[in-house]
Amino acid sequence: MIKVITYGTYDLLHFGHIRLLERAKALGDWLIVGVTADDFDKSRGKVNVEQSLMERIEAVKATGLADEIIVEEYEGQKIDDIKRLGIDIFTVGSDWVGKFDYLNEYCKVVYLERTEGVSSTELRAKGRTVKLGVMGNNNVAEKYMKECTFVNGAELFAVCTNNENLINLAKEKKVFVTDTYEEMLKKVDAVYIVSRAKRHYELIKKALECGKHVLCESPICMSKEQTAELFKLAKEKNLVLMDAIKTAYATAYYRLLLLIKSGAIGQVVSIDATCTSLKEFEVSGSAELSNRQNSISAWGPTAMLPVFQLLGTDYKSYTADSLFFDEQGDFDLFTKINFSYPNATATVKVGKGIKAEGELIVSGTKGYIYVPAPWWKTDYFEIRYENPNNNRRYFYQLDGEGIRQELVEFVKAVKSGEGHSNISQEISEKISEIVCDITDKKTNNVMTGGKAD
Ligand code: CTP
Repeated sequence: MIKVITYGTYDLLHFGHIRLLERAKALGDWLIVGVTADDFDKSRGKVNVEQSLMERIEAVKATGLADEIIVEEYEGQKIDDIKRLGIDIFTVGSDWVGKFDYLNEYCKVVYLERTEGVSSTELRAKGRTVKLGVMGNNNVAEKYMKECTFVNGAELFAVCTNNENLINLAKEKKVFVTDTYEEMLKKVDAVYIVSRAKRHYELIKKALECGKHVLCESPICMSKEQTAELFKLAKEKNLVLMDAIKTAYATAYYRLLLLIKSGAIGQVVSIDATCTSLKEFEVSGSAELSNRQNSISAWGPTAMLPVFQLLGTDYKSYTADSLFFDEQGDFDLFTKINFSYPNATATVKVGKGIKAEGELIVSGTKGYIYVPAPWWKTDYFEIRYENPNNNRRYFYQLDGEGIRQELVEFVKAVKSGEGHSNISQEISEKISEIVCDITDKKTNNVMTGGKAD
C-alpha cells in the first residue's frame, strides 16, 4: 500500500485545496492530511486564519478525500510523521517548490501544480475590511498602528493624535490624520482608544452614538455604572465594545487559565499578581504626574485580570493600601489590594513609583503556577509540584505583546456581530468599580503623604 501525506491550513476550504487533495490521493492508496494547528500557524505569521482548527478539520473531512486526518502542531513534525506513519510520498502545492526537499531523505517528495486564481488569502480579503481608527498620543497607540498591518481584515484608516511621531507615522502609512476626534469617527467603522481613563466615557459614548465599534484601554470607565451603561448602549446599537487588556490575548496566558481551570494545580487558593514600572515616573518627574494615569488606573486592570478570571468577582471583601505622592492623595505611587474570597485569597500590587518583581503566582492544593516577570507579556510559565520530577514548563510565541491577537478577535467580533472578547462584561465592570473606588479613596486603609525623591 502506498501511503501519501500532505499538509496545509485549509482555511475557508476552496477549489484549489480540493484539486490538490484529489491529485494527492491519486498518487497512492492511502491519503493522510495534516491540518495545521492554530498555534503552529501563528508562528508562521498566519494570524489571520479565519476558521478554527475544528472547523478546518471538518471541512477537510467533508471532502471525503482524506483517509486519515492528523494535526500538525510543531515545527519539524513532518519528519516524525513520515517515519512514524511509514509514509512513501510527501506532497504539497508548487508554491512550496524546494522548501521540502530535505524530506527526500525519508520519502519521495512531489510538488503538485498549484491551482491558479484562488487562495485562502484572497477569500479572506473579499470579506469586509474593517476600517480602523486609532485615537491616542502615546507609544501604545503607536503599537496598535503598527500591529494593524499583521491583521487580515483590518485596515488602519485614520489616526486622531497630536503627537508628532504618530502624525509622521500616519503620514508614512498614508492614513488620514487629524486632531479632531469627530473628524476621525466619520472616516472609520471602528476605533481603538487609549487615553486617560477619565475621558473614556465621553470618547466611547460619542463613538457608539456615531455607530462605531470600540476597543478601549481598560478601565472602560471610571465607574461600574458608566461601564454598564456603555455596554448596554453598544448592545442596543448592535456594536462591539471590548476591553483592551492585551495580556488576555497572549496565548501563554490563555493556556495557563485553561490548565488551571482543568484542575492542573487542584483548587486555586491564592493568587499574587504584581505589575510595576518606573520609566514614566523617571521620564516625566513629579511635576507632570497629575496629568498622568495613576498607578491603579494604569496597572490595576491587568493585575486584577487573573484574579477575576480565576476566582470570579464575588469576593467577600477587599482592602486597599496606597502610598500617595502628594498630601491630597491624587496620585498613588503604589497600591496593594487584598481580596478575600470564601475559599481563597488574592493580592494585587501595582505601582508606577516603585519597583518590584513583576511576577504572577497562582497557588493551588496540588501545585502552583509561576510566571516570571514581566508576567503581563507572558510567553512562558511553569507548573511546579511537591515532586520536582512532575514540574512542567510551557512556552508559547507572543506576537505583538498580545495586541495582534486582540485585534484579530476584535475584527472577528465586528464582522460576525458575535462577542469574541476574552474579558467578560462582568469583569470589565468590576475593574472599573475598583479602579474608581481606589482613585476616589473609598477604600479602607489609606497611607497618605508618602513622598518619593
Ligand atoms: N493549494 C493549491 N492551489 C491553491 C491554493 C492552495 O494547490 N490555489 C495547495 C497548497 O499548495 C497546499 C494546500 O493547497 O499544498 C493547502 O494550502 P493552504 O496554505 O492551506 O492554502 P492557501 O490558499 O495557499 O492559503 P493562503 O492563501 O493563506 O496561503
